[in-house]
Amino acid sequence: MTRLYVEDAELYDIAFDWDVAPEADWLVERLGAHCRSVLEPGCGSGRILLELAHRGLEGTGLDLSPRMVELARLRLGELGTVVGADMTDFALGGRFDGAVSPINTLLHLTPVQLAHHLDCMARHLQADARYLVQVGLIEPDQWEPFAGSHWEASRGAVKLTAAWVDEELDAVRGRSRQRSRIEVLEGERAGEIIEEVHDMTAWTPTTWADAVEASPFGEVATYDGGKSGQWPRVEPTATGGLLWHELVARS
Ligand SMILES: C[S@@+](CC[C@H](N)C(=O)[O-])C[C@H]1O[C@@H](n2cnc3c(N)ncnc32)[C@H](O)[C@@H]1O
Repeated sequence: MTRLYVEDAELYDIAFDWDVAPEADWLVERLGAHCRSVLEPGCGSGRILLELAHRGLEGTGLDLSPRMVELARLRLGELGTVVGADMTDFALGGRFDGAVSPINTLLHLTPVQLAHHLDCMARHLQADARYLVQVGLIEPDQWEPFAGSHWEASRGAVKLTAAWVDEELDAVRGRSRQRSRIEVLEGERAGEIIEEVHDMTAWTPTTWADAVEASPFGEVATYDGGKSGQWPRVEPTATGGLLWHELVARS
């Protein structure tokens, strides 16, 4: 696990605290009117779960980072439940009406770990429940290093700049190196720079389709989450950094 999710979870919490209300509206619509309870594996500090709770869903999150679990519990209070667990091996003793995994969290899992994760998820979802996962797909021959996302964020006395940049693709191994960088500009930690390289799985439309096919889930629709505020439906062969995949367990 990376420093950004453990020792520096507070900075993650500030840096990634942008407005996710439109995304939450869209997720609630896709989860369907019958959905009352939702699970978010890798929930981080709970920003999505809180928005889903504000829309009437009972949220449960799990995260491997104890600090993220603490922050999510603080954020949600009575509005949700957060447990410390590994998303590749967990047993919560209940089934949910739906589940979400935004912001490419599943790219942190290797293909073998993803298979374990999807097995666990299938055991935690009701029949017909939607599992909406945001996982970017690339075609190696069209890949070029992406200038990345660069933004500013602040909370109270803390001001920072953040960046997340693709550095390198190893198409043969299906791995991508991505660099995150947070520079604290103001506040108690002003002057600190937290920079890390994340070794993540690089999925193509084919390898992703094969992984889903080998899992208990089927992909019933794909959406382009990179089109701000629109999320149009696209072909399952589409590529893009922020695709949403709508998974339903096969009966
Ligand atoms: C990119 S962050 C996303 C957090 C949250 N979903 C959000 O939208 O802000 C990825 C999260 O996954 C968690 N994580 C990574 N590997 C995990 C695992 N094997 N089991 C549970 N959580 C994990 C990290 O601690 C981190 O909080």
